[in-house]
Amino acid sequence: MPLLKILHYPAPLLKEKSPLVTEFNDELRQLAEDMAETMYDAPGVGLAAPQVGVLQRLIVLDCSASDEPNELIFAVNPEIISGEGDSLEEEGCLSVPGFWANVKRFTQVTMRYQDVEGIFHERTADGLLGICMQHEIDHLQGLLFVDRLSPLKRSLFKKKYLKMLKEQEQENEA
Ligand code: NI
Repeated sequence: MPLLKILHYPAPLLKEKSPLVTEFNDELRQLAEDMAETMYDAPGVGLAAPQVGVLQRLIVLDCSASDEPNELIFAVNPEIISGEGDSLEEEGCLSVPGFWANVKRFTQVTMRYQDVEGIFHERTADGLLGICMQHEIDHLQGLLFVDRLSPLKRSLFKKKYLKMLKEQEQENEA
C-alpha cells in the first residue's frame, strides 16, 4: 500500500472541521489501513484523516509501549464523552515537525467511537493513550496542539516555526 503524504502546518486544510463518516465501506477500511501504515512509518502514535488531506472523522492510534505488542485502534466518528483531572504533558504532531510543547488536557477520558464496520465502542484511558485520543479528535475539529497554547506561546511558536520553514526553503534552493 502506498504511504500517504502528511500535510504540514500551515496547510489550510488542517484548520477545517471534518464531517461525520456515514458510509462504512471498503474505501473507508482502505484509508484506515493506509493511515496506519503511514503512522507507523513516520513513526507516530496517532494520525487523523485531515492530516493526510481527507476531511472525514477517522483517526488511527497506537500508543502501546515499545516493549508491548502493538495495539492499533481505528476510531470513526470519535468523541470524548467524559473527562477528568488536569494534565500538562509535552506533545508533538506529525503535522508540526520539529516542535514540541506542554499542553493542558484531561488526565483520563472516555471516548465513544465506531469501528470501521460501524459498531459502537467505548474506551476509557489515561496516560499517553488518553492524551492521544484528545489530540487526534482535536484534528477533526480543525485544531492543532499549538492552538491550545497561550497567546504568547502561540505567537512565539509561529515566529520560530515560520523562520524554520524559511530556512529549509533557502537550503533547498541552495
Ligand atoms: Ni497531531
